Amino acid sequence: MLIQNTTNSFIDTLRHRRQRLANLIDFPAIIWSGGSSPRNFPANRFPLRASSHFLYFAGLPLSNVAIRLEAGKLELFMDDPQPSSALWHGEMPTRDEIAQKMGADGARPMAELELWLEGTATIAVQESATWTQQSQLLNRWVLPQSPPQGIDLELAKAITSLRLTHDDAALAELRKAAAVTVAAHKAGMAATPKAKLEAEVRAAMESVFIAQNMTTSYNSIVTVHGEVLHNEHYHHSLQPGDLLLADVGAETETGWAADVTRTWPVSGKFSSTQREIYNVVLAAHDACIAKIYPGVEYEDIHLLAATVIAEGLIDLGILQGNAEDLVQMDAHALFFPHGIGHLLGLDVHDMEDLGDLAGYEEGRERSDRFGLGYLRLNRPLRPGMLVTIEPGYYQVPAILNDPKLRSKYQNVVNWQRLSQFADVRGIRIEDDVLVTTEGSEVLTAALPNDANTIENLSKI
Ligand code: GLY
Ligand code: MN
Ligand code: MN
Repeated sequence: MLIQNTTNSFIDTLRHRRQRLANLIDFPAIIWSGGSSPRNFPANRFPLRASSHFLYFAGLPLSNVAIRLEAGKLELFMDDPQPSSALWHGEMPTRDEIAQKMGADGARPMAELELWLEGTATIAVQESATWTQQSQLLNRWVLPQSPPQGIDLELAKAITSLRLTHDDAALAELRKAAAVTVAAHKAGMAATPKAKLEAEVRAAMESVFIAQNMTTSYNSIVTVHGEVLHNEHYHHSLQPGDLLLADVGAETETGWAADVTRTWPVSGKFSSTQREIYNVVLAAHDACIAKIYPGVEYEDIHLLAATVIAEGLIDLGILQGNAEDLVQMDAHALFFPHGIGHLLGLDVHDMEDLGDLAGYEEGRERSDRFGLGYLRLNRPLRPGMLVTIEPGYYQVPAILNDPKLRSKYQNVVNWQRLSQFADVRGIRIEDDVLVTTEGSEVLTAALPNDANTIENLSKI
């Protein structure tokens, strides 16, 4: 991996983050980058994605290194490249050069790390070779799927409290990811009239990232089966009358993410039923963004989306009754079964490697309600938080044909009327919204979302 030269302000930002961590904990922490996993032989590897906690403090996408943070100082543990690696990978920066680029206070070979473990906390990485090494060295289980305990939990809480709101350097990266993602969605719409397969539209979108030396921040969803919420197949043909749902986001070189969804008609023209439902989803999207202010509970934003969707479906004759009552009984979740969004930062679903530690205010737990269980963020909003707003409407056979749900909601759904909307399988509209002191700023606002403009962008 080529590591560019870094600027003084980049290093100042990293040092500032390390100092802020030191203000919150009084014990050392070691954070591993993680490594890339091999495919069929050791030198053929899946792409590297360094741990986000590592990227937050070290700034550089490195593999197989660790940093030790104590009292605001950073010590880098890394082996110099083997002389033989130059043949295959070219000249790689040395440990001392890397240390300088991240503003480290010291640098040592990896083998010395075992002398510096006493009393240190850590956070599990996802990749198994590294969490196995973490567990062996620290002589305790450090497992990515288990909640952290003791000082590891204290460290996790300290880091989440820092990463919940973004500093200026992070925001600059997040804005870059957002801008490139906007361009990718426009490219996807423009490519649709000539495309025969979902895969061709995906290629048009992801090529915009590749050309900017970026990658995807999650596996792209580009599908005419938007009702499969995380559909990662791209082989379906595009037919006139289909809606194409594209949930595609860029990740910058240093790991910062965007997460955007648009839904457009393959033919360049929504049917009347598609347009009616599209406008219901858009009304929910707009109502939620208008209500984003510091201090507002994100759960209330979710419930607002549920209510606007319920009202819209009542107006269309699909639901029957009063919107508040329908939301109270979770009837909206028949068509909007996920949460209104989540935190966004170094990861899509930022910090969900720590379960709900970041997403849920201390003392709060996930609801087991059908209409609330998938809510990933339940905190009052604060300036500097970046959240997604992503209402949707789906006809998921596994929900709508479920005998228990069908009988529970028998009288609130006009099933016959619903059958007239069969050409609306999945619609989602997703934007990335920064909470500011005055309210909010939509980082992805340059991508239109009104039905007429979407049609214009996706027709020949
Ligand atoms: N791209 C996954 C999500 O929107 O949450
Ligand atoms: Mn998304
Ligand atoms: Mn999202």
